[in-house]
Amino acid sequence: MTVKNICCIGAGYVGGPTAAVIAYKCPDIKVTICDINQKRIDAWMSDKLPIYEPGLEEVVFACRGKNLFFSTDVDKHIEEADLIFVSVNTPTKKQGLGAGMAADLAYVEAATRRIANVAKSSKIVVEKSTVPCRTAQSMRTILDANSTDNVKFDILSNPEFLAEGTAIPDLLKPDRVLIGSLQTESGKAAQQALVDVYSHWIPRENIITTNLWSSELSKLAANALLAQRISSINALSAVCEATGADVDEVAYAVGRDTRIGSKFLKASVGFGGSCFQKDILNLVYLSYSLNLPEVAEYWNQVYLMNEYQKKRFVKKIISTLFNTITHKKIAVLGFAFKKDTGDTRESAAITLIKDFMQENAHVAIYDPKVEHEQIYMDLAEPGVVDNRKQVQEKITICKDAYEAAKDADALIIVTEWDEFKSLDYERIYKDMQKPAFLFDGRLILDAPKLREIGFKVHVIGKNALEGRA
Ligand code: UDX
Ligand code: ADP
Repeated sequence: MTVKNICCIGAGYVGGPTAAVIAYKCPDIKVTICDINQKRIDAWMSDKLPIYEPGLEEVVFACRGKNLFFSTDVDKHIEEADLIFVSVNTPTKKQGLGAGMAADLAYVEAATRRIANVAKSSKIVVEKSTVPCRTAQSMRTILDANSTDNVKFDILSNPEFLAEGTAIPDLLKPDRVLIGSLQTESGKAAQQALVDVYSHWIPRENIITTNLWSSELSKLAANALLAQRISSINALSAVCEATGADVDEVAYAVGRDTRIGSKFLKASVGFGGSCFQKDILNLVYLSYSLNLPEVAEYWNQVYLMNEYQKKRFVKKIISTLFNTITHKKIAVLGFAFKKDTGDTRESAAITLIKDFMQENAHVAIYDPKVEHEQIYMDLAEPGVVDNRKQVQEKITICKDAYEAAKDADALIIVTEWDEFKSLDYERIYKDMQKPAFLFDGRLILDAPKLREIGFKVHVIGKNALEGRA
């Protein structure tokens, strides 16, 4: 079968860029991205797209209105499509069974039920959202209960490996595309149909086909292994600080071993983002559910190490500032969970700033891309009356790094935005309280040079003794 019409349910960080690149690379396929959120769809149709991602505008503007469309009429586009991507959110459950660990599959289920209710012809249904292993089984049960002689459903797992900030290059030239299917005749035919879509621009040898369950688990496994590398280097960063070793030098020396490799060994204030924490916890929950507590505890340690790293940084800041930051001005540079994105989900900045607010510091925040409203939302405790007002009293969102640093006692690099590397640090130093403390949570600044200016510098994984590293 040949895919001619694709519907993508969910116009978020995954669905939006993925479906847009498919439209861009497959002019013969009509792609419609649907969402129940009218504001989001309006933004996708406007000049200011709802997410910031380098290269995304070029892709969307090149094919919007030609073979790429956006709509809130989910039912209509389900009905028209022969292949449907399910790219809805799968947040960690906040309450009930598995709260704090398991993925909330309510959105996946709702989207699957819509497909089951609306479809009048056979469809290929593709799981794109990261889901726990064997979610396809639940989708299948819902869809099978609604299938007839004329309406059949095939389910594929096609997890997305794009990273935010580099989503477009990741999609244009992925290391691999993974497509899992049931090993039945119709499952394999559906798998081939999706292979043909990706073959428009991806060499066949980079498209891996597996069984459904391997595909689902591979996504969790990839994120767990990547997060594990970061927690490993972050654990070593604490040892570096205690011994005088330099974590960048250690990572470089270790990464030169081709068996280990150099990527994802950058020590930091802790990983953030919508995937790593969620997927690790997902794997932990899955392992407990499968009665594999040792496996669960092994992966949980990756999560716990990340929490430890954030707390360790906060403690270091407070102890360096003479054990109190009460009424001090703390300038935080960066609020996004990494550079080149406006996304703040699970950003280390949130944990850090909440801790500073607890200590009654005044926090001045600057981020080049994050919307101010998002910062207020992330820092306010949901459900606490007047909390937003309290947040507003304790933080100031600044127009640039210089405004944030003015009269500050400490400057803290939380996100590795390139522009922070080339700021006028002489000017910043002059404007700050003295001693002027600078904490580099991303290892991006030239610490010796900053010390020459006069800053008291602490870099994660370095300079156990001030000025020695
Ligand atoms: C991740 C995976 O990389 C991607 O394959 C998957 O599809 C989704 O989850 P993402 O969360 O967008 O992507 O960004 P990523 O580049 O992986 O960074 C995640 C976090 O780890 C960020 O906070 C980043 O700053 C941090 N990080 C990354 C480090 O602290 N050190 C590193 O060496 C790499
Ligand atoms: P991700 O990072 O996984 O892409 P997002 O939260 O950015 O997650 O995007 C998921 C999108 O899916 C949201 O815009 C949400 O409104 C949308 N969504 C959730 N459930 C449905 C549904 N049943 N039908 C259509 N869209 C949905």
